[in-house]
Amino acid sequence: MQNLHIELNRATGVPIAAQISTAIGASIRSGRLYSGARLPSWRDLSAQLGVARGTVRVAYERLIDEQLIVSRGAAGTFVAHQLPLSSNADIRDLRSPLPDFFVHPFSQPPLMFQMGVPAQDMFPVSLWSRLTSAAAREAATVGSVSYPDPRGELALRTEIAAYLSVARGLSCSPAQIIITNGYTGALGLIIHALGLIKQTAWVEEPGYPLTRTALAIAGLDTVSIAVDEQGINVDNGIARAPDAALAVVTAGQQAPLGMTLSLSRRHQLLEWAGQNNSWIIEDDYLSELQLYGRAAPALASLDRYGRVIHIGTFSKTVSPALRMGFISVPAEHTNHFADVAAALAPASSIVTQLALAQFMRKGHYMRHLRRMKRIYKHRLELLRHSLQIPAATEAMAGLALLLKLPRDTDDKMIAQQAAAFDLAPTPLSSWYAQTQHKQSGLLLGVTNITETGLDANCEHLRHLIAQSS
Ligand SMILES: Cc1ncc(COP(=O)(O)O)c(C=O)c1O
Repeated sequence: MQNLHIELNRATGVPIAAQISTAIGASIRSGRLYSGARLPSWRDLSAQLGVARGTVRVAYERLIDEQLIVSRGAAGTFVAHQLPLSSNADIRDLRSPLPDFFVHPFSQPPLMFQMGVPAQDMFPVSLWSRLTSAAAREAATVGSVSYPDPRGELALRTEIAAYLSVARGLSCSPAQIIITNGYTGALGLIIHALGLIKQTAWVEEPGYPLTRTALAIAGLDTVSIAVDEQGINVDNGIARAPDAALAVVTAGQQAPLGMTLSLSRRHQLLEWAGQNNSWIIEDDYLSELQLYGRAAPALASLDRYGRVIHIGTFSKTVSPALRMGFISVPAEHTNHFADVAAALAPASSIVTQLALAQFMRKGHYMRHLRRMKRIYKHRLELLRHSLQIPAATEAMAGLALLLKLPRDTDDKMIAQQAAAFDLAPTPLSSWYAQTQHKQSGLLLGVTNITETGLDANCEHLRHLIAQSS
């Protein structure tokens, strides 16, 4: 129990049981021990502290009396979920990370219109539970006390390499694949591996706010390059920051507007990177989840110079709760990336990796994607039908419908007001870095649309929009 630090002093005359209960109580009150955390058994703690078991029992009983901990018999002793009010002031004072970006609570079911999360009701619960328990058994029997391969399990890397070649037109070997903690984990690994700190990076405008934030935290300078109907404007990038070391692009479906980077822009971008020894990060966050038409092959598939690092994630296609993503690295750089992964960013839980490998190997992944595309198209139509707005004011934007608003409309305020109805539209303006480029609009995620209540919710939205203009 890493958060439990108890120092006993036998010289003070304070009974040992009281010292133990005071130390644990202080850890709970300060928030170092969280609600629900499990405490060591009497036996383990007494052995650790070199005291009698009865002493620990007395200390625990005192904490139970203070309602700081609860005993659940054979299951163990836990920090209480409902702490007495005076106890958790520090916990309440803690804010959650990046509050401007993560505006919805973590680990909660998605709200209607929320972007960036797959359909909650379509997650294959029993199949996934079966695969995970089989994977947990496998992980517990084979090499259960060995360090796993920091690049990720070969079984999963093999499935991903095969998938990339079939579905994204990108041929690479399992050796070029490294498993990461989603897109975010991949970004950290790449920045370190390429030594990009203090360098300049092109990012898309509008673009994924977390990419900008992550690069800034890692010490890069970002230059926002506007996108048009063909995707990122490479001429503009070359004019403004010709020597940038990096460009991060969502080539498949621009985030958030959804257009595909045109073929001529792809060649132009690759040429620039090749001539300039710059890097391109391809954020393939939606993979082949394109509702209409066929998804374009990955940008990395056209890369003759070996300058594109392709990032894939299972956050949109299966679930962000897996925290599972990967990178595909140009062949000549794989050893270096593997060293960096081993030193700084080893692959995530092997149980989830093995379950995912089976999910892919048995054909469930492709089936799941086909099914999700069908369902999302249907949900999009339901939304369009209920919204009843002129076609000119809406546009498809990846897995969201963009409802365009006049430029001076305060879309952030509408989104805040919508929260009172448990609705979570995303304001388009928050995807822009520069005020002079800002457009106003609401991005309505289609993945968690349900027929029940949809008409009423669309009515609330229309009302809030009308009020604000
Ligand atoms: C543009 C973009 N890239 C990547 C991601 C996925 O990130 P992660 O794999 O860390 O969940 C998202 C999720 O919203 C996104 O919008």
